[in-house]
Amino acid sequence: MALEKRPREELNRAVIFLGPPGAGKGTQAKMLAARYAVPHLSTGDMLREHVSKQTALGAEAKPIMERGELVPDSLVLKMVAERIERPDCTHGFVFDGFPRTVAQAQYLGEMLKQHGFRRPFVIHLLIDQALLLRRLTGRRTCKVGGEIYNIYELPPKIDGRCDSDGGELVQRPDDRQEIVAPRLQAYEKQTAPLVKYYRRLGLLHDVDAAKSVEEVSQQVQRSVQQTRGAR
Ligand code: AP5
Repeated sequence: MALEKRPREELNRAVIFLGPPGAGKGTQAKMLAARYAVPHLSTGDMLREHVSKQTALGAEAKPIMERGELVPDSLVLKMVAERIERPDCTHGFVFDGFPRTVAQAQYLGEMLKQHGFRRPFVIHLLIDQALLLRRLTGRRTCKVGGEIYNIYELPPKIDGRCDSDGGELVQRPDDRQEIVAPRLQAYEKQTAPLVKYYRRLGLLHDVDAAKSVEEVSQQVQRSVQQTRGAR
C-alpha cells in the first residue's frame, strides 16, 4: 500500500474561520486546508449537499436556508460529529461556517477534547458591512469543483465558466439581495457573540479581511504559524 504523503508542517488541530457572510471564510479556509493537506469542512456546503441529494436533513434545512436563517443546532451538530470522526480528520481540519452559536462552540470544545485535539485556533475575519453586499451578490461558484469567483472582484477568464475545469458558474440562491439582509441579521444576533466567547478564551486572532485574497491569506498563515505550538 502506498504511504500517505503528508506536508512537512502539520496542523494537528482544528482551525475555525469566524466572520459574517461574504467575509471570505470559504476562500481562505480552502487555501489553508490545502496548505496543510487537511479537510475543509464547510457546514454550508454539507447542508447544500443534503439539499441537492434530497435527504431528510436536506428537506428540513432547505426552507430555513432559503430564508437566510440558521439551521437548528441539533441537525448541524450531528452532521459535524459524524464528519470529524472520519480518518481524514486525524491530522486536523479547517472549519468554515461552524460553529455559529455559543451552544455549537461549547459542543465543539467537548468533541475536540474527546478526540484528543488541542484547543481550536480561531481566525476572526474583520470586514466592513458595505463590502459584504458586493462580495455576496457578485459571488459565483463552480458547479463541478466548488471554486469561488466574484464577478466584480475575482472574475473568471471566460464569463460564466470555471478557470480550472470549465464548469458552469452559478449563483447561490441565498446570495440574492433580499436574502442577504436576514443572513447578516442572523450573524449579528446568533454568531457575533462567539467573538467575545473565543476572545475570552484567548483563542481569537483578528485578521483584516478587506485586503486582497493573497494578503489575507498571508496574514492567516502568519498567525497560524506563530501559534502552531501553543496548547
Ligand atoms: P454558509 O455557506 O456557511 O454561508 P455564510 O456563512 O453565509 O458565508 P458565505 O459562504 O456566504 O461567505 P464566506 O465568508 O465563505 O465568503 P466567500 O469566501 O465565499 O451558510 C449558508 C447557510 O447554511 C446559512 O445561512 C445557514 O442557513 C446554514 N448553515 C451553515 N452552517 C451552519 C451552522 N453551523 N449552523 C446553522 N446553520 C448553518 O467569499 C464571498 C465572495 O467574496 C466570493 O465571491 C469571493 O470570491 C469574494 N472574496 C473573498 N475574499 C475576497 C477578498 N479578499 N477580496 C475580494 N473578494 C473576495
